[in-house]
Amino acid sequence: MSRPELLMPGRMQKNVNDALDAKFTVHRLYDAKDPAALLAEVAPRIQAVAVGGAVDAALIDKLPALEVIASFGVGYDLVDAKYAGTKGIIVTNTPDVLTEEVADTALGLLLMTVRELSASERYLRAGKWPSGNYPLSSSLRDRTVGIVGLGRIGKAIARRLEAFDVKVVYHNRRPADDVSYEYYADLTEMAKEVDTLLSVLPGGASTEKAINRAVLDALGPNGVLINIGRGTVVDEPELIKALQEKRILAAGLDVFEKEPQVPAELIALENVVLLPHVGSASVYTRNAMGQRVIDNLTAWLDGKPPLSPVVETPFTGWKKK
Ligand code: NAP
Ligand code: 8YV
Repeated sequence: MSRPELLMPGRMQKNVNDALDAKFTVHRLYDAKDPAALLAEVAPRIQAVAVGGAVDAALIDKLPALEVIASFGVGYDLVDAKYAGTKGIIVTNTPDVLTEEVADTALGLLLMTVRELSASERYLRAGKWPSGNYPLSSSLRDRTVGIVGLGRIGKAIARRLEAFDVKVVYHNRRPADDVSYEYYADLTEMAKEVDTLLSVLPGGASTEKAINRAVLDALGPNGVLINIGRGTVVDEPELIKALQEKRILAAGLDVFEKEPQVPAELIALENVVLLPHVGSASVYTRNAMGQRVIDNLTAWLDGKPPLSPVVETPFTGWKKK
């Protein structure tokens, strides 16, 4: 019996490749000498896509038999899920299995930024310690953290901050019903009241440049911005100006507007900590994320409900099974 055919537009990790090769005929666009020719040849037979990057409406339109898009990562802002939904295609992502890892990373990034840990390490490595102690830093002790996007990861960060004895408040579009932290319906109002903003917002049109000049100015000269959500949420040129002009104190960023490009102006600044999108990037967690991609695709093969369909494509049954 012939296997179902799956399209893999970009490179994916070993556990995903091994499992999918055992269950599907996998067409790897990134490996093809002529990707457009390969796509034209296999497109009519493709029923599944496994992806870590973009799937736009134009690609979906080329795949008339497509039933499932399994996206690697909890954020799927590069997949046009709304359009997929109009075609009866289910999009899946990988929530939950990365929540605690990303929350760990967020706390590390927050401490590195507020306590200037990477700058002080640079000081030691540059041989400057014998000529004097590193200057005193700011502290988490007197800070209030406003979490922007108190969802799965935001709540895991908040739990850690409680253990650190740090006050937490938050902004979402609507209050979460399972927390007692103070809620702000307006982001700028929250920024006025706190000195630390920690964003875990998803990307996409509804959050684009939500952290803008007005929010940064409301945060003020003692303000620290941590972004572990998506780079598109922050107006990056305005952030750079705010940091250069010391209208905010510091920033810790794991995500950027045009990854993997990071503006030279940011790299030149001392009052920033910059990480190359490593929030979930441990072997343990990436394997769990890969396994979720495999499990969602196996569910499709078996005619069972997917483990994690996204909200734009609620599962009511597979297209043809
Ligand atoms: P989640 O559970 O869906 O949480 C997202 C939160 O954001 C929700 O509480 C939601 O609340 C709020 N939100 C969404 N749109 C909003 C808007 N326009 N304005 C205000 N609040 C809004 O997702 P999660 O699992 O915590 O993941 C969050 C994001 O983290 C992902 O989408 C991804 O972009 C990012 N992420 C980054 C890394 C990394 O490596 N750096 C790793 C994993 C995830 P309401 O619906 O009530 O507004
Ligand atoms: C991954 C992420 O680095 O899950 C997400 O939304 O941003 C990260 O866990 C990314 O998805 C890998 O491509």
